[in-house]
Amino acid sequence: MENSGNNQSDAEIPSAELEEAEGPVIFYNDKVIDHFTNPRNVGEMEEGSCDGYSLVGDPECGDQMKLWIKVEKGRIEDIKFKSFGCPGAIATSSMATVLAKGKSLDEAKRLSDDDVVEAFEGIPDHKKHCSMMGVNALHAAIRDYEQKQKCPEK
Ligand code: FES
Repeated sequence: MENSGNNQSDAEIPSAELEEAEGPVIFYNDKVIDHFTNPRNVGEMEEGSCDGYSLVGDPECGDQMKLWIKVEKGRIEDIKFKSFGCPGAIATSSMATVLAKGKSLDEAKRLSDDDVVEAFEGIPDHKKHCSMMGVNALHAAIRDYEQKQKCPEK
């Protein structure tokens, strides 16, 4: 059974459906489940082959994400991530990397958690905070890259 109504919170799901439901499937639409079960851009980059790196966490739940970017001519040429977290965190981290790949740094800096939620056509209200982690990691990796550009040794 799945949640066909995007953005539908648990409170809006008829209680009979909730009682019959097994697992978390009812809480996420197909797009979110696809990114959770088949996350894009998973992996890491060797030190020296990446231009920006970040490690961020959600202090509320303890989930964490590492993210690497490769920058070419002011664009995010490649991006990899590893997340330790809930299905929402993994799916939204995946979508954040999909949205960022190929974007200019300025465009990537403007990506927000709302963009991630919109790309999924909605996620349950109580999981929206999960979409912050991927976007925060992206922005932190860009800051790391920009900081390194200021360093004369690089
Ligand atoms: Fe921690 Fe989803 S519950 S990011």
